Amino acid sequence: MLSDLNESYHSINGALAESRHIFIDNGLNRVIGSQGRDNSTSNRKISILETGLGTGLNCLLTIIEALKYPQYQFLYTAIELYPVTQEELRMLNYITITGDEYLSLFNKIHAVPWGCCSEILPNFYLNKIRSDIKELKSPDIATNPDVVYFDAFSPNIQPELWSSEIFKGIFSVMNPGSILVTYSSRGAVKSALRDAGFVVKRVKGPVGKRHITVAQRD
Ligand SMILES: C[S@@+](CC[C@H](N)C(=O)[O-])C[C@H]1O[C@@H](n2cnc3c(N)ncnc32)[C@H](O)[C@@H]1O
Repeated sequence: MLSDLNESYHSINGALAESRHIFIDNGLNRVIGSQGRDNSTSNRKISILETGLGTGLNCLLTIIEALKYPQYQFLYTAIELYPVTQEELRMLNYITITGDEYLSLFNKIHAVPWGCCSEILPNFYLNKIRSDIKELKSPDIATNPDVVYFDAFSPNIQPELWSSEIFKGIFSVMNPGSILVTYSSRGAVKSALRDAGFVVKRVKGPVGKRHITVAQRD
């Protein structure tokens, strides 16, 4: 973790609702919705790439969502340069909010070794990669994601991660029609995304935040 940047990951209070709104409702479920929610077709695949696994909250919410879609195989690739420590994990209280039944899933996320792909559920595989977001253009890191959760620290804290160079790298490994979703709707971020080739739109944000950004690779 970038403890020296003194950035708290989320305000715990709104963290779950925020993450659900941004990454699940406007990321994952947009993609699933665009494919049709037909439960009868099995063996569908969805590939998710997260930049900044952090505490694993977005990953946990996606696993909870995967329970609703047994017809899909989920492959979740998470990039993180500064993994959270066991001590930091113990201090989190997500489980008291999401419910005890998810504790084992949460623990499974953090038990997956770095550099490995492991089964979390029969339809959910997690691949944890300890690497720099700046290396994302390398095709051996990202696997043609259908949806990218871009969850780096804010442009104020790490402006170098919100550049058109970084977005071009991500764009180059994305599937046509796939989307990148992020919490920032700052003008400079949207223009860097456009420079990288994305079609960008802002959508309604979670409580307390007017807009977020959804960018599509056409
Ligand atoms: C806003 S937090 C992500 C929160 C996380 N998605 C969650 O659900 O808890 C940003 C994350 O990006 C990671 N990070 C910062 N710089 C990075 C870099 N250059 N490459 C990869 N990860 C980075 C941080 O360590 C942190 O975990």
